[in-house]
Amino acid sequence: MPDREHNVVLLGAPGAGKGTQAKMLSDELGVPHISTGDILRGAVAAGSELGAQAKGYMDRGELVPDELVIAIARERLAQADCAPGFVLDGFPRTVAQAEALDQVVDELGREALIVINLAVDEDEIVRRLSGRRLCRGCEGIFHIDDEGVEDGGACPNPDCDDELYQRSDDRPEAIRERLEVYRRQTQPLIDYYGERGLLVNVSGVGGPEEIAAAVLAAVRERS
Ligand code: AP5
Repeated sequence: MPDREHNVVLLGAPGAGKGTQAKMLSDELGVPHISTGDILRGAVAAGSELGAQAKGYMDRGELVPDELVIAIARERLAQADCAPGFVLDGFPRTVAQAEALDQVVDELGREALIVINLAVDEDEIVRRLSGRRLCRGCEGIFHIDDEGVEDGGACPNPDCDDELYQRSDDRPEAIRERLEVYRRQTQPLIDYYGERGLLVNVSGVGGPEEIAAAVLAAVRERS
């Protein structure tokens, strides 16, 4: 079968490894990695109007209103670099967002979505989020248990050496709220895409490379 567009959605609970896998998959496929969480955090850091509107929701672990996030995704997906495809990470997260994405895909004349659900149990999710550390320089995603990662230390990437930090929504109260919001608002998307025959479940437990190979195989099989 000829290679086609790779229009991938990564679904999964907070901390399931969407960001980690999205970076690897977008490098492998040569298509942009689009994370609504990263776009919103960038807007907060830049002090923009969008950031001011989003910050409170994000710090509490709640979802930012659909209309704001749908507008961001709609604008980003229409950009020229998305022509060969995209890896969406953190969007859609509600049925309204999924319906809006269907509409955008339709309007842009894109091929069908490939939806990968990364499945990870809740104890592991809490372990991952409470130990996550990020790099301000290379934007690498690490865990406090990874070799060379320490609080107050520098990025373990030998080409970087910038500062590591913890996300403000990786505090225990915000983690609890994010998991509750996930169960209530995002988990229904598993059925939404399952009923349309677009969903592939991939275990999110194991080494990142092993999971990346399973994700890539699932995408290639449908391309
Ligand atoms: P967002 O940034 O999308 O956060 P999230 O969905 O909560 O997901 P995370 O980034 O926390 O986790 P991840 O699955 O990417 O895992 P990661 O790879 O980092 O959203 C943040 C906020 O923005 C939301 O709460 C909301 O307010 C707002 N927002 C964003 N999009 C929105 C939308 N569409 N609608 C409304 N609001 C929106 O990995 C986690 C940790 O695990 C890391 O430490 C990593 O090193 C480790 N790890 C990864 N893979 C493995 C592995 N295989 N084994 C062991 N450890 C691993």
